[in-house]
Amino acid sequence: MPTIKTIFSGIQPSGRLNIGNYIGAISQWVEMQSHYNCIFSVVDYHAITVKQDSEELRKRILEVTKIYLAAGIDPEKSIIFQQSAIPAHTELAWIFNCYGTHMSDLNKMTQFKDKSGKNQESVSVGLYDYPVLMAADILLYDTDIVPVGEDQKQHVELARDIARRFNNEFGDIFKIPQAVVRQEGAKIMSLLDPTRKMSKSDDNQNNCIALLDDVASAQKKIIRAVTDSGSEIVYDPLHKPAIANLLTIYAQLGNRQIKRLEKDYADKGYGDFKKDLADIVLKFLTDFQSKYNKISDNDAREILEDGRKKIEKIANGKMERVRKSIGVR
Ligand code: AMP
Ligand code: TRP
Repeated sequence: MPTIKTIFSGIQPSGRLNIGNYIGAISQWVEMQSHYNCIFSVVDYHAITVKQDSEELRKRILEVTKIYLAAGIDPEKSIIFQQSAIPAHTELAWIFNCYGTHMSDLNKMTQFKDKSGKNQESVSVGLYDYPVLMAADILLYDTDIVPVGEDQKQHVELARDIARRFNNEFGDIFKIPQAVVRQEGAKIMSLLDPTRKMSKSDDNQNNCIALLDDVASAQKKIIRAVTDSGSEIVYDPLHKPAIANLLTIYAQLGNRQIKRLEKDYADKGYGDFKKDLADIVLKFLTDFQSKYNKISDNDAREILEDGRKKIEKIANGKMERVRKSIGVR
């Protein structure tokens, strides 16, 4: 019997999760949990790489957990846990800082460049080191596959490099993981600027549709979304990035094929298209939020605690091997 593969992924409890996070990451996870051993983390120690309000962070950790559950992550099939509850993550990150990671690796990371912008000298060291903690998350559990959005591929590449270098020095300790990115929907773009990613840290909330947005305002955001010149509804990301993005959202949330949508809207204009998409978004969010509202904070706490208990042993087992291999035990 072939062994069942392990999946690991996570989202930071910072900002408001949006349909980009759902389409690019979480919806993939839901499909995978019937076929693989799945581990999904609320990566709170990644969130603190930028300033967080402590009350707010505490709330967001439960919110993200409830979003996982409402989206269909089933704690009977998958492990859901809070990153900071397993100290092995930060311990392994420290070891990778010393073995396996070069300054030149981190200097190349585009997300660091984007997030630090002109403040490269004053942002936290944590923001710079963030991909190393992510590598520790992934490698600790002998992960085979990491389902993420497009923007995280470079970080998974680094995890592969770190694993290879560590194995070269100390033997076969880590599995080499692979990123898996959705063919369609790996990068949902902003509603007002289709050249930029829809991001949960965006200050202008009109760029994104949050999963917990008030449904009426979400509808308005779709109606106000920018469109391209011309009037045809065709999927052409290069020449019609705004319409291509809206078609992707429509297909993903409405469970339709883009080709089919192009045919259905062949004789219609942007106005009709956006009105229908606004209805699709309304239906999706209403359904999602009704599930979300049925889950209590206490349910979320219990699920995180169950998850911690389930994986603590795996993490500790791997750490013992790592500590021995580098000579601290
Ligand atoms: P983040 O919001 O950066 O914490 O990302 C959490 C997960 O959602 C990662 O797997 C990202 O790649 C994915 N993701 C974030 N924004 C988008 C987007 N606009 N489109 C598709 N996937 C996204
Ligand atoms: N860096 C990822 C993001 O912002 C979140 C993350 C942390 C992650 N650790 C991970 C994703 C491990 C996949 C696997 O989206």
